[in-house]
Amino acid sequence: MMMSFIKVTTVSETMIDATMIKDLMKTIRYYYYDGNPRDDCVAVQTIFLTEGKTKIEVPNPETFRTKAGDYAPSLTSVFYNPDMEFCRDISVSVAQSVSKILENIWVCDPLAGVGIRGIRYAKEVKGVLGVLVNDRSKDAFELMKKNIEMNEVGNLVEARSTDANIILFQNSGRFNFVDLDPFGSPAPFMDAACGALSKRGMLAMTATDTAPLSGTHARACLRRYWAKPLKTEYCHELGIRILIAFAQRIGGMHEVSLSPVLAHATRHYFRVYLMAIRGAQRADEVLKNIGFVSHCNFCMRRVFTRGTAVELPSNCECGGRFSHSGPLWLGELIDKQFTREVMDDLSMRNFKLKHQEILLLSRCIEEADGPPTFYDLNELSSCSGISPPKISELITAIRARGYFVSRTHFSNTGFRTDAPIEEIKEILKGV
Ligand SMILES: C[S@@+](CC[C@H](N)C(=O)[O-])C[C@H]1O[C@@H](n2cnc3c(N)ncnc32)[C@H](O)[C@@H]1O
Ligand SMILES: [Zn+2]
Repeated sequence: MMMSFIKVTTVSETMIDATMIKDLMKTIRYYYYDGNPRDDCVAVQTIFLTEGKTKIEVPNPETFRTKAGDYAPSLTSVFYNPDMEFCRDISVSVAQSVSKILENIWVCDPLAGVGIRGIRYAKEVKGVLGVLVNDRSKDAFELMKKNIEMNEVGNLVEARSTDANIILFQNSGRFNFVDLDPFGSPAPFMDAACGALSKRGMLAMTATDTAPLSGTHARACLRRYWAKPLKTEYCHELGIRILIAFAQRIGGMHEVSLSPVLAHATRHYFRVYLMAIRGAQRADEVLKNIGFVSHCNFCMRRVFTRGTAVELPSNCECGGRFSHSGPLWLGELIDKQFTREVMDDLSMRNFKLKHQEILLLSRCIEEADGPPTFYDLNELSSCSGISPPKISELITAIRARGYFVSRTHFSNTGFRTDAPIEEIKEILKGV
């Protein structure tokens, strides 16, 4: 790793407590770009990293670790999270697959930070006609411009520094690939992003507000996504489905249909890729797959109800009462053919994390044909009063009865099946 080190006062060359950085940031600005020592600022270390084929200058992640060892990118004045390389690699292959379908694409990265996503799309995806990278932070903008120059993609990438919604509204109907990668919720940008999509394209988005979406902060979920989450063993899946349905309802306002082709929950974030096609009828069709999940805490039964003004069941067959979550997407999360294309593309690249990325996608494909929601082996075993068998044995036994069954990328102890709950329990006791 090379080091570009512009220093007026050393912030830290080793570990620093997050609160110390916060205190420092109240009084200082960080300057990465002019290289001239100044009295009124503290410069931060920047380093050069490579992701895929793209070289990038970023704030040194090591100077933004908390005492616990976690990297805290929100503490930097220019956002860069090295842990998201995994997500960005997959995004590059997704964009390549979209570009293959549409022949070429116009891309917008309206929350770009150092510009890494947009620049990678320009440099590593064939068929990209142009990329607009934007960040309202002036420091990010300066670093972004340096990174565009360093990667020699100035002919393809335009850098701007304004509000993401403004840039999206100003470019209505222009982009085939809009990547919303905010810190927190993508909800405030969804309307403008849907408007910026052209006739065919993709809306890619990250949500790091997994706590509201998966039921830890239910009120925040209701406020942001107009939906009720539910704390269950499959709450992350419910969160992703809430996020998708929210995007689809906003898409509907623009007469854009948004159909998921790939969605995953990884570490602290959800990532969703929605294929977009303009057309009121298509948008209506998509909305038909929005509904509610009713969950019984006593016997683990789930009931799915499609529709908006629908009556939900209140009592389970076991006598327990149902808890509900929604409105959420009840359709497929994965398009197998599309995800295979992404996997094929990934397998031809030299990404450092390629094997883990392929492993994730193959698990997504494995579970693609299953119903919404999965069961947790430990929860189900404790509910049945037995100690959990090996998950592989249970899966073999369920498959032997002719049901769909698979592991799930959401959890190592989870399995997805369309077998009725009573039969799953019976099989569980027999293995
Ligand atoms: C999570 S970071 C982006 C990370 C980047 N996409 C990457 O892969 O490294 C979110 C960025 O959005 C910027 N931002 C937040 N709100 C914004 C807004 N309303 N308009 C433009 N930029 C915004 C922040 O300055 C921050 O750099
Ligand atoms: Zn029940």
